[in-house]
Amino acid sequence: MKELLYNKAYEKFTPDWFENLAAVDQYLYENNRTLREFWDQYIEQFFTHSNKKFKVLDLGCGLGGFSLYLAEKGHEVIGIDISELAIQNANYLANIKNLGDRVRFLKVDITNQTKLGHDFDFIFDSHLLHCLTSDAERKAYFDFIKSHMHAETHYLLETMAFQKGLRTPLEYNFDDNYTLWKSNGDGEEYALRKILPSFELEQEVKANLLEINFLYFHAELTFHVFTEEPDYPIQHLPQTLRLAAKLSSNA
Ligand SMILES: C[S@@+](CC[C@H](N)C(=O)[O-])C[C@H]1O[C@@H](n2cnc3c(N)ncnc32)[C@H](O)[C@@H]1O
Repeated sequence: MKELLYNKAYEKFTPDWFENLAAVDQYLYENNRTLREFWDQYIEQFFTHSNKKFKVLDLGCGLGGFSLYLAEKGHEVIGIDISELAIQNANYLANIKNLGDRVRFLKVDITNQTKLGHDFDFIFDSHLLHCLTSDAERKAYFDFIKSHMHAETHYLLETMAFQKGLRTPLEYNFDDNYTLWKSNGDGEEYALRKILPSFELEQEVKANLLEINFLYFHAELTFHVFTEEPDYPIQHLPQTLRLAAKLSSNA
């Protein structure tokens, strides 16, 4: 069910869309602008030698734009996503860009206890965690991450954060646990996102035995998630939280 939901998001990228590579690159470039900034600033802040090469895992990689950016910089990358369609397209792009020896894309549902067989220097999540709405899925997510970390792995997360005053169109509804439900039009609702306030997210990360070494609430970087109401003012939209964490000594 979840796979179908996420495949849908990638149906608009039809094969002819990929024919205009310059337009594809432009799209990926725009889409990844803030992630590139996050990565570049983090490396500059925490590493003396900014040309060091890393093994990176990109969670919920989608079309793979950010993974491809890292591979172009010489890092060794694996991107994973639940959507078969996203993974097919990402592998296609890696091949035509001749980056297939440095980046691989795999269809993986992070909640399925998959083991990739080795660990990573960086685990990067751009907007996957808030797609996981149940406690069981989120526990599986953190277990997956920890099982692919070594003592010095950096976990970098960018996610939507709840704020007071967040407004939703009529078809959407937040419950008391910050789960965002959407009506499917037949009188039924399904859980679409879990958008926690920054403090609760921090608690969740810590409860999963990760030690936060960087936390940044980005109030200007909002998300226009509701296509039904694209013109909501900035103070009524979800905002962005970025954090970095390592395994805590108790893990
Ligand atoms: C909001 S998109 C973000 C895509 C990309 N990281 C970006 O920042 O543009 C979330 C991605 O997570 C993927 N995803 C959702 N649930 C997943 C799961 N259980 N396992 C792996 N990927 C999942 C979706 O298919 C989607 O590509």
